[in-house]
Amino acid sequence: SRTAAILLAAGSGKRMRDSVPDKVLAPLGGKPVFSHSAATFAESGVADLYVIVYRDQRQMLELTALAPTPTLFVPGGSERQYSVASALDALPADIEQVFIHDCARPFVRVEHLIALHKIVRKEHAVVLAHRVTDTIKLHRETGHLKNLDRDSLWAMETPQVFSRDLIVKAYNSAANRGTRLTDDASAVELLRHPVALLENQYPNPKLTTAADLPWFEYLLKADTL
Ligand code: C5P
Repeated sequence: SRTAAILLAAGSGKRMRDSVPDKVLAPLGGKPVFSHSAATFAESGVADLYVIVYRDQRQMLELTALAPTPTLFVPGGSERQYSVASALDALPADIEQVFIHDCARPFVRVEHLIALHKIVRKEHAVVLAHRVTDTIKLHRETGHLKNLDRDSLWAMETPQVFSRDLIVKAYNSAANRGTRLTDDASAVELLRHPVALLENQYPNPKLTTAADLPWFEYLLKADTL
């Protein structure tokens, strides 16, 4: 069966813009943030095709030089969910599994890609995630708080990996209902389909502000020691 990896790079990077023009092209350990995910995917061999979702023509030219092959370039949308929807629309007919990955998370690991690929064939939906260490509460409009049981709370990461039929159906359902999605598993939840979790014991943060860069440099060094 054939697998595609959707690599999302079309964020506007609003929170980065003051100091860095494009977070997936920001330098980390001497190469662009995008190249870290690209190299890990290439090394893992999980993908037969890369669908790269880009922000504008200029960025696409830069990504072309960095992208693993074979590659399909798709222009992004105004929100992450529209970027993913465009990538799903562009998938060739023979693709059966889909990795969806935020390139703003450069610390994805080969062993996790291989494990996710194995799990998705059985479970149809699997997400890399970590246990929450903060105490998280629901804040109601009345001013009341409701504590959530921390032992059952997980923070979602990417990659999130799905059978193609399931994620396409899930995104169609979300579009019909007008649901706002901040990750891909949320769409699958709408169908009441279970989602497997693969616990990540390593840090896999999303580059969000320029202030994250020194910390990311440190994580990169710590990881290669
Ligand atoms: O903006 P945020 O940090 O949530 O972006 C997460 C990932 O989704 C990033 O890799 C970003 O490039 C991508 N994205 C996208 N299209 C958008 C917004 C975000 O591909 N419209």
